[in-house]
Amino acid sequence: MTDVPVIAIDGPGGAGKGTVAQGVARRLGWHLLDSGSLYRITALAANRAGIDLENSPAVCAVARDLDVRFDEGGDGLRVILADEDVTDVIRSEQAGAAASVVARDSAVREALIARQRAFARPPGLVADGRDMGSVVFRDAKLKIFLTASVAERAQRRYKQLKDKGMNVSLPALSRDMEERDRRDSERAVAPLRATEDARVLDTTELDVQAVIQRVIDWAAEVYRV
Ligand code: DC
Repeated sequence: MTDVPVIAIDGPGGAGKGTVAQGVARRLGWHLLDSGSLYRITALAANRAGIDLENSPAVCAVARDLDVRFDEGGDGLRVILADEDVTDVIRSEQAGAAASVVARDSAVREALIARQRAFARPPGLVADGRDMGSVVFRDAKLKIFLTASVAERAQRRYKQLKDKGMNVSLPALSRDMEERDRRDSERAVAPLRATEDARVLDTTELDVQAVIQRVIDWAAEVYRV
């Protein structure tokens, strides 16, 4: 596939993958792929085009033709869909739930694979998602599976959304999270699971800097960076 070093980070929502991947990419000076955003953007673009999310061929065409750009801004990566900044729009729980519906479709997943692999460019890539280690970057020498208890993950997501000024309820978030975990883990294609060669890290009791440091230590061991 590619000789570019890849750190594949998978795990359920709220385990800290996004923040950790961003922190690691920044410290190593590597590229970053937030693969979940591609599913979120696909769902958003389909919704806006009035396409039913269960209409596989139509959603697939949307996924293939996405006019999306990731711009490195001062405050992190901005997601630009057809010249509109949708960074915040795609972060809502509703957008996440819609993403997990389109993500069940194998043809949609297939349509997004080449786009994801194109992110692997020197000096290296940190990729986060659900199937980075199991499908998209199967050859990665460093695969990490981040987990945390549902209660802790719901609490983190709650704080994240509150900080963005969104109005959310913790019990509802917790329920949605369990529901999304179930959908992501039980789907027939590329279900969420730790591969045998993944290093599993439970982040329930760890702060984000400690997790980032652990990943950097593993990267040093595996890739000599
Ligand atoms: O990581 P996230 O919350 O942004 O992901 C949104 C949804 O997309 C999530 O429910 C599962 C799906 N997803 C996926 O199936 N495969 C990926 N590599 C990333 C996300």
